[in-house]
Amino acid sequence: MSLLLWLALGLVACQSGSIGAHQADCAQCHNQQAEDFAASQLSQSATSPLFVALLAETEAVHGETSAALCESCHAPTVGHEEGLSCASCHAAVGNRVAENGELVHNLSGPVRGPTGSAPGAPHDTLAGVFANSSELCGTCHDVAGPAGFEESPYAHWLEAPTQQSPAPQGCADCHMQQGHRFEGLWSTGADQLLASAMRLELAREGGELVVTVHNDNPGHRLPDGASYLRRLSVNIDGQATIWLSTRLQREGSQVYSPNLADAQIQGSIPPLESRTWTVTSPEQTRVCVVFQAIEPGLLQHLGLAPELAGPEVEVLCESG
Ligand code: HEC
Ligand code: HEC
Ligand code: HEC
Ligand code: HEC
Ligand code: HEC
Repeated sequence: MSLLLWLALGLVACQSGSIGAHQADCAQCHNQQAEDFAASQLSQSATSPLFVALLAETEAVHGETSAALCESCHAPTVGHEEGLSCASCHAAVGNRVAENGELVHNLSGPVRGPTGSAPGAPHDTLAGVFANSSELCGTCHDVAGPAGFEESPYAHWLEAPTQQSPAPQGCADCHMQQGHRFEGLWSTGADQLLASAMRLELAREGGELVVTVHNDNPGHRLPDGASYLRRLSVNIDGQATIWLSTRLQREGSQVYSPNLADAQIQGSIPPLESRTWTVTSPEQTRVCVVFQAIEPGLLQHLGLAPELAGPEVEVLCESG
């Protein structure tokens, strides 16, 4: 046999068990994971109307290079698929840097999974040191620009108190409790997720009301991630709104699009810390922590349907 044929056969043999050779069929055998993933926001990463509209604005304001950066996380082209897919994580073998979506994928290698053992599987399998790490998540979840696009839940997690425990909780421990649904603040149940991670405490001292919000999450800030797209606030009856989610500004005035911002005003609370406000208010003043998934001002700015914002939900309320 010619050397060329040997090489060609070798390539086919080595690829028949590869993740790339099975990319189209994952859902056939793993329907629970596929169903959960399809229900998660991650599967909408390249098609959500908000993403499509913001991407067009990014290209117009900051140019093509910045738009390509957006796509490296939202529409990574691994093999022939567009948008986030099974291979985005299960073919990931490392990164160039731990931010801005700088992942390295190997489609001609085995599926990288949690145990490395898959009896009866048609694909080769290897315990994925990188694919099982929080650094995998962090490579897409730390965003450094352009303009107001700044997110660093991974950097916050690296410095968080959870690192001091003998078994630090990783991203998947908290965000994959319902498997491949990747529950976050744009998922059903966001209010419960928030309520599980925070406490609201009121104390009265005569005419003064002392309001304290605790972040009980040992893993990162409250709120974290793309919090400039969301609304989380403490509303004390008769007082100005207190923002926990990030606000965007340009030349000192509020703007809603990250594309137009030159500053982020942070309101988030560090892990296992609290923040206190003292106000003069009558007895039985109502205090609520209020959440909305998307900032309505951004939707209006982009000409998108106001319903995309989701309802305003009261996460926690107390009177005192
Ligand atoms: C290839 C890039 C990439 C990787 C790797 C990645 N993510 Fe994400 N993730 C995204 C993008 C993009 C979104 C935004 C999707 C959207 O809302 O359209 C997102 C959204 C999320 C959300 C918010 C979901 C919601 O409903 O609000 C959570 C939670 C999340 N990811 C957790 C994780 C965890 C845990 C890991 C690691 C196991 C991980 N991600 C790995 C790109 C990535
Ligand atoms: C954002 C990253 C990410 C994406 C996308 C992803 N997975 Fe996973 N997957 C993981 C992680 C992390 C684990 C390990 C889970 C754990 O330790 O709890 C895992 C575990 C698994 C397992 C082992 C059993 C289980 O459920 O824990 C299977 C099977 C699996 N994934 C299949 C898939 C399929 C099929 C797809 C596409 C529909 C997919 N995964 C998409 C990150 C991902
Ligand atoms: C490093 C990876 C990365 C880059 C680069 C990135 N994003 Fe994201 N983006 C994410 C992640 C992760 C989330 C989810 C964060 C969360 O839920 O808190 C997200 C969420 C979003 C959302 C809300 C969810 C949705 O799909 O509607 C929009 C819109 C968005 N990004 C637009 C952009 C645009 C436009 C750019 C380019 C300027 C960009 N992103 C650059 C990772 C990235
Ligand atoms: C013909 C059926 C079949 C197809 C197609 C298939 N798998 Fe599997 N896979 C299995 C079986 C069987 C196992 C072992 C039992 C289990 O974990 O469900 C397995 C196990 C896994 C695991 C767990 C490995 C570990 O380390 O614990 C992951 C992750 C996985 N598959 C991902 C994928 C991905 C991604 C695809 C698509 C590229 C895919 N599988 C395609 C049958 C299949
Ligand atoms: C101890 C549990 C825990 C750990 C560990 C953890 N998270 Fe979270 N995460 C939460 C909770 C609770 C929320 C909702 C409240 C908030 O935003 O802080 C959240 C919110 C988020 C959000 C915002 C979701 C949205 O839709 O806007 C992102 C993004 C996120 N986490 C990513 C990560 C990443 C990446 C890691 C690992 C580096 C991680 N988380 C580790 C519990 C955790």
